Formats: sequence, structure tokens, C-alpha cells
Amino acid sequence: MSNIGSYDERVKNFKWSLAEQELEYKDGDVINIGWYCSDRICEKGLANKTALIWEGRSPENLKKYTFNDLRLKSNTIGAFLKNQGISDGDRVCLFMDKVPELYLGLLGILKIGAVAQPLFSAFGDESLFVRLENAGTKAIITQKKHAGKVQKILDKLPNLEKIIIVDYDGRKPLREKEIAFDLEGSTPVEKLDIFPTKAESHSLLHYTSGTTGQPKGVKHVHYSLISQYLTTKWVLDLQPDDIYWCTADPGWVTGTSYGIIGPWSLGITSCVMDSGFSAEAWYAFMQRHKVTMWYSAPTAIRSLMKAGDESVKKFDLSSLRHLASVGEPLNAEAVIWSEKVFGKPFFDTYWQTETGSMMICNYPDMKVKPGSMGKAFPGLTAAILDDKTLEPITEHNKPGLIAFLPDWPACMRTYWNNEETFNKKFSKGWYLSGDKSTIDKDGYFWFVGRDDDVINTGGHLVSPFEVESALLEHEAVAESAVVAKPDQVNMEVVKAFVTLNPGWEAGDELELKIMNFIRKKLSPLAMPQEIEYMDKLPKTRSGKIMRRLLHAKEWGEEIGDTSTLEDD
Ligand code: WT7
Repeated sequence: MSNIGSYDERVKNFKWSLAEQELEYKDGDVINIGWYCSDRICEKGLANKTALIWEGRSPENLKKYTFNDLRLKSNTIGAFLKNQGISDGDRVCLFMDKVPELYLGLLGILKIGAVAQPLFSAFGDESLFVRLENAGTKAIITQKKHAGKVQKILDKLPNLEKIIIVDYDGRKPLREKEIAFDLEGSTPVEKLDIFPTKAESHSLLHYTSGTTGQPKGVKHVHYSLISQYLTTKWVLDLQPDDIYWCTADPGWVTGTSYGIIGPWSLGITSCVMDSGFSAEAWYAFMQRHKVTMWYSAPTAIRSLMKAGDESVKKFDLSSLRHLASVGEPLNAEAVIWSEKVFGKPFFDTYWQTETGSMMICNYPDMKVKPGSMGKAFPGLTAAILDDKTLEPITEHNKPGLIAFLPDWPACMRTYWNNEETFNKKFSKGWYLSGDKSTIDKDGYFWFVGRDDDVINTGGHLVSPFEVESALLEHEAVAESAVVAKPDQVNMEVVKAFVTLNPGWEAGDELELKIMNFIRKKLSPLAMPQEIEYMDKLPKTRSGKIMRRLLHAKEWGEEIGDTSTLEDD
């Protein structure tokens, strides 16, 4: 029997207080995610249970941590940060590959009441800068290989006081503001005063990209645990003996909500693989650790499909019990393929950085319709709204905006320093997701597309605005427009259209140079996979570049109304 049992019964009898009771939390109590994920599990008698199985670039590079290790090591990090002058409410950035310090550090930061700001370690200096500046980050925890990027922007970040290096080897002298911290070599701190955070205390700050303007810092609070705990239990169906693998990087919300908080608040053993993607390396990892529950993403699944069925057959993956996916549309073929090769479908889940926890999902014991995102999580009021009137659409299979009544515990509390954009996400009492979907006669949601120009490449959102701005900083580029281009594996990749400044010659060499420029400045995800040189970009009469036209061209779609287009 699955944890959720009958979906319909759960919908009928739903109360968030169910999760509050299981977590022994009452309104007004202290609630600290760092404590819930380590100390409390130890108090429940699971101190010696394995919490984290970590593997580096080779299988020999293996580390295991019990829940007691989580407790002690997060205490140690928390105490170190406190000694460095970090206090409650301060933003501490985690900027690391998937090393153990990232996972333990997040709990340590939360335990002292500070705010964890995880950032993807492949970010270049510009991506890093805008996010650290916006957050007014006080300390950053990083590895020596990433510290150079921080040094490069340090002069522009007056609030940044400490650069904490977790793998300092003494070979080069420490630079300005750098300080070494060796977790393995530190004396474990047995007792740490856990900061008495309450439901509405700030916990995490995750950055996400929009169409216009700089990335937005999504503010989450400790009470989000209630949603994350229950969705993990009911949707991912984690059970005491499971070995769970969430493939997401904690630089993104899936990696924190379901790579850290969900599983550990339930006392579940979780695996981490800190190396790049390869189909056989993934299968071998799951075989070695007997993974039972696997939460991944459509691009990874499509890459596995591409690697072929023969690859799968070389491994014993009979431990797998349940599979789920998130981040971008999961096409029906991928679900059908997974049934064929793994003997079970991937269960799609839909949610966002802003929602903090899963919203529309496929549940164990509920029929999966391949290609559908499933149904709203019990307790949520979800609807499809007419994009003009913002009234719910009752007709089946008619596309509209996905909206929710904003009354679930993990809903974002604001965009950091950007209340205005936050307010725009709500109208007539609804939280507007910015995505479009239909609902069929059985209540299943079918994703249609985003309602903005944000590019979703391999499950990662990229802002065309950020890429366009970065392109303009290249000396050859006069104007730029960035849109999504179709791609078989990543669904969408970034494509740039540029006009050049006088004296520059369009060609492959310059294209490569510009691509590299963006990769280093922003990230490999934001790097255009193609640059098309134009004599002129299509603009409206008021001078705004019409991305819509360029997008339609890439996707072979009807161009639509061009009446505002500048003369041709
Ligand atoms: C956007 C949110 C929170 C998970 C990681 C991404 C798209 C997410 C699905 C899905 C189709 C999906 C939406 C959404 N998306 N899940 N199952 N099917 N699209 O978080 O970076 O905030 O991105 O990803 O467009 O708005 P995110």
C-alpha cells in the first residue's frame, strides 16, 4: 500500500494539520528545518541510520553519513558561521558542486537562523554577481575552484564579508576576505543552540529567472517544511527502507525541497552523485546503491532513451520501486519507454521555485495518463483561468492559465527586494503560475506552455533578458534578441540573433567567441547553441525587439499580428 492510499479519499479529508501532527508541530511553536532534518530524526531513534551516501567522480570516492553525523556536522558548520559573525537573517550563499559540505552546510545555516542562498556552481561571475548583490549576501561558502569567480566581483559587493573555502590546501595564500574551513578536520560540536525560528522565519532564498529584469529571489520560510514533508511522503512515496536518489543540484529548488528537506525530514537514506551525466554511470550508480526511488527530469530521461535499451540491460535495476520527474514537459514517449525498460512509468510532477513544493502530480495507485502532469495535490485549489477575464474555465480541454489559491504552506512569501513583481503574481485571489494548461474530463492537467518568453532548457529556466544584456557587453555585438529554439533532448535551447558593430566580420570564429563569452559570464545553460547574424532585428514602432517573430520562425509557427511591426 502506498503512503497516499486513495487519492480521492485524501482530497475529501484533507487538512495540512495532518502533517503538523506527524511533525509534532503546533501553531506558534518553534520550527527549524535544520533541526527537523537531523536532531529530530536522531531523537526518533534513527541516529545510526545512513542519511547520505555520497559519491565523487569515481565509485571509490565514497562517503557515508548517519543522521547523527548530519546532526554533528551541521552543528559544527553552524557554530563556525556564528563565530564568523553570521547571525539570524543574514544571507549565506552556498556555491559548490554537489559536495557533502553543500548538504550539511544548508542545515547548519538554517540551524543558526540564517538564510541559505544556494547558487548553481556552474554560474559565471556575472550570474553570481547579480544574485549576491540583490541578496546583500554576507558570506559565501565555496570551493577553491570557484573562489576566483567571487574574487573577480568582490569589489562590487560591499556586503560580502567572508569567503569560506571548504577545501583549502594551503598551496596558495588565502586572498582578501577568504577563510579556510575544514569540516572533516574540525572538532564536532555536540551542542549548538538552535535558533528559535518560527513558521514565518526566512529559510531559503532561491533565484529564478523572469522575462524582464534581473533574476528574482524567491523567499521561503521554515513553515514550508509542512508542504515538503507531506508531498515527499505522498507523491514520492518514500518508505523507511527506501534508498532515494534525487538527481537535481541544490542550486535549484528541486535539489533543496526534495534533495534535502523532504527526504531527511522523513528520516530517509538519500544518495548523491557528484559527477556529470552519462547513462551508464547513472545506471551503475543505481545498481551499486540499490536505489529504490528515483526523482529526475525529462531531459535526463530523454538522454537515457537516446543511449538505448541495451545500456539499461547491462545493469540490475530491479531495486527500483518508484520513479518521478519534474522540471519540464514529460512527453508520453518517455513515460512509455520507462515502462518498457524499467517496468514502471515516470510519474510526472509539476511545480515551481515559487511554489516551493509539488502542486500537480501523478500519485501511486492513481492511473498515469502518459503526457499528463496529473492532478492537484490534495488540499490545493487549482484552476485554469481565462487569460483575459481571469475567471476559471469550466470547459474541458480548453487552455488557460494555471492558477492556485495561495494557501499552501510552502508558497513563496515575496520576491526579495521586489514586492512589485511579487504582487503581479496575484490577482482576484489567485496565485498566477505563468504557465498554460488544459484540464480533461477526469481532472488531469495537460501542460500547454509558458505564458512568457522564459526559455526552459533541460529543465532550467533562462531569462532571454539576461542573455541579451550579456551579449551587448561583447564588443562585437550591437543589438541582440534571444529566443528558444527546439531541441530533441533539451526541448529548448538558447538561440541568439545579433547585429554587429561596424568593423566586425560575421562568421564561425566570432560565433564561438561570443558563445564562450556568455558561457563564462553567465553559465553553460545560458550559452546560445546558435548565433544568427542579422542586418537588422525586427522591432515594434516604439523600438521594442519582437522576440515573438523570431520565436515563431524557429518553431515554424504562424507569425500572427505584425501590425505594430516597423516598416519592412
Ligand atoms: C517551471 C518552473 C520546481 C521544479 C523545477 C523547476 C516548468 C516544471 C513541469 C512539468 C511541464 C514543468 C514550468 C514551471 N515545469 N515542472 N511537470 N511539466 N513544465 O522549477 O525553475 O522554477 O521552473 O518549469 O514552466 O513554471 P523552476
